[in-house]
Amino acid sequence: MRAILVLIAASFAASVPDTNWWETALVYQIYPRSFKDTNDDGIGDLNGITSKLDYLKKTGVDAIWLSPIFLSPMYDFGYDISDYRQIAPEYGTMEDFQNLIKTAKEVGIRVVLDLVPNHTSNESDWFIRSVRREPHYENYYIWADGIPDPEHPGELLPPSNWISVFGNGAWEYNKERGQYYLHQFVIGQPDLNYREPKVQQEMNDVIRFWLDKGVSGFRVDAVIYLYEADSKNYNGSYPDEPLSGKKGFDSDDYDYLNHIYTRDLNETYDVIYNWRDVMDEYIEKDGENKLMMTEAYTSLANVMKYYGTGKRNGSVPFNFSLLENINNQSTAFDIKLVIDKWMTYMPVGKTANWVNGNHDQSRLASRLGDSRVDAMNMLALILPGIAVTYQGEEIGMTDGFVSLNDTKDPQALNPTDPIKYWKKSRDPERTPYHWDASKHAGFSQTTGKTWLPIADNYKTLNLAAQMSAEKSHYKFYKDVATARKCCALREGDLHVKALSESLLVVTRLLPGTPGIIGLINLSSQEQIADLSSIKLLPNKLLVVASGVDCELEIGAPYLKSNLPLSGHCAAVLKTADNCC
Ligand code: NOJ
Repeated sequence: MRAILVLIAASFAASVPDTNWWETALVYQIYPRSFKDTNDDGIGDLNGITSKLDYLKKTGVDAIWLSPIFLSPMYDFGYDISDYRQIAPEYGTMEDFQNLIKTAKEVGIRVVLDLVPNHTSNESDWFIRSVRREPHYENYYIWADGIPDPEHPGELLPPSNWISVFGNGAWEYNKERGQYYLHQFVIGQPDLNYREPKVQQEMNDVIRFWLDKGVSGFRVDAVIYLYEADSKNYNGSYPDEPLSGKKGFDSDDYDYLNHIYTRDLNETYDVIYNWRDVMDEYIEKDGENKLMMTEAYTSLANVMKYYGTGKRNGSVPFNFSLLENINNQSTAFDIKLVIDKWMTYMPVGKTANWVNGNHDQSRLASRLGDSRVDAMNMLALILPGIAVTYQGEEIGMTDGFVSLNDTKDPQALNPTDPIKYWKKSRDPERTPYHWDASKHAGFSQTTGKTWLPIADNYKTLNLAAQMSAEKSHYKFYKDVATARKCCALREGDLHVKALSESLLVVTRLLPGTPGIIGLINLSSQEQIADLSSIKLLPNKLLVVASGVDCELEIGAPYLKSNLPLSGHCAAVLKTADNCC
C-alpha cells in the first residue's frame, strides 16, 4: 500500500508544473551592454551572454535577468524602446536571442526579460502615429494643450509644473500635433497612457510575444509612474504638484515637488495584477510559473501592494532595503532591523527577495567598502526567497571612473553640469565586466574604445584572478550559492540575532535536515562568537564557506560556543555533513 502511495505521489509530482522555481532562485542581472562583447564593437551582445551561460550555471545561477535588449535609440540605454518585438542590432539578432534561450534551457538557466511599460521611445511607431492623431493611436500617450502665457501673448506654457525624474520640466511641446506630451524620464521617453485600454492590450500582447519565445518572466520597470492624475477630474487639465519643502533642491530638481499626481496612483496595482493573469496563462503550457519582479522605489506600504491583494496575485516587488538602509557604519543591530522589517511587512505566504546592487546604484564595494562585500553577498544568498545579484558584485567590482567626456548616462547629462555630473551619473556602476587581466579586461577585443571605459583596477580585480586565488570574493560567493541547494536554505525557518554591535548570526533551520548558519563579524578585530544561546543548534558545526577575511577553514569542525571570527569575517556553517 505504502509503495503504491509513493508511486502515485511520484507520478503526480512529475505532472505538476514546476510552479515554484523562482521562490528560491538566484537571479543574476546582466547589463548586456557591459557583459561580454563578441563582435569587437566595444559593446556587449547576446552571443557574449550565451558564451557565459555555462560558467553562470557552475556559479550557481538559476535565472538571468537581461536589462533591455530591444530596438532603441539608446538615449537611456534601452529603457527607451522603439519596438518591443525587435532586438537592438548592436546586441544581435532574433536568431541570436533564440540561440540564447535554447542554450540557457540546455544548461538549466531561465531567462527573464526587462519589461518597460511606462514609456516608449519617441521613435516608436506608436508615438509617431499618436503625433499624427491616427485614430487608433491618438490617446496612446499623455497629451495636453499648453496654457496661454499671460506675460507673453501668443506663447504657451506647459500644462502643469511637473518635473521629470531626471530633472527639468516633464512636458515637451510637439509642433506637429500642437500639444505637449508628458515624459517622466528623458524627452525621448514619452509616457504611455494607461487610461487607454488599447495601451493595456498592447502591453499584454508584448508580454505574450516574449513568453511565446520561451522566457520565464519579467522584471518590470518603473511601475510607480504608470498613472498620472486623470485630467477628466480637473476639467481636462493637469493640476500642479505642491512644493516638497525639501532643502537643497533647485526648482528643476525632481525632489523640488511632492509628486502626488504623478506616482503611486491607486490604479497602478490592478495593471500589475492583470499582467500576473496574463503570465499565468502559461503555467500549464510551459509547465512553470513565470516570475514577475517589479521595480518600485516607494514607501514600504506601497511596495507591499505589488505582491497582490487577498483576491489577486501580483508580483515580487524588489526589496531595496539592503541597498538603501545599510552603509559602511551599519551595526549588526541595524542589519537585523532591516531584515526583520521586510519580513514583518511582507504579506504571509509571499516570497522575499534581497538586492545588493543594480545598474542604477553605486556598487556594493564602493558604497560599503571591500571588507563588507562577502557579508552582504552572503546575506542575500542565505536569507529566504530570491537572491538578486547584479553582474560584478560576486567579484566585488567597484565603480569605475568615467570622465565627463566619456559620460553617457542621460541622468548625468540633463543638463550637463561639469561639476555635479558624477553625483547623478550611473555610468560608474555600468563599466564593463572584468573577466581577466588582458586588454579591455577580456570584455572586448575591439581595437577602439569600449562604450564606457574599463575601471582601472581590472588587472588585479577580475574573475580569472579570483578563480585561481586560494580565497576570493568569487570563491566565497560560489560556495554560498552552492549551499542554496540545501533544504534549510530553501525552506528553513529564519532567525536573525545580533550577538553584539559587530556580530550577526543568521540561522536557517528545518526539522530533519542539517541547518545552515551565517556568521558576520563587522569589526576589524577578531571576535569570538558564542552561539550557546541558540538552543536548537548542536554543539559541533562545520564550515561550508569562508570569506576572504575569514580564517575559518572549510570542512573544519568548530564548537558553537567558541567560533573565532577574524576581523570582517563572513562565513557559512552547517550542522551536519550532508545537505538535505
Ligand atoms: C528604471 C531603470 O532601472 C533605469 O535605468 C531607467 O533609467 C528608468 N527606469 C527609466 O526607464
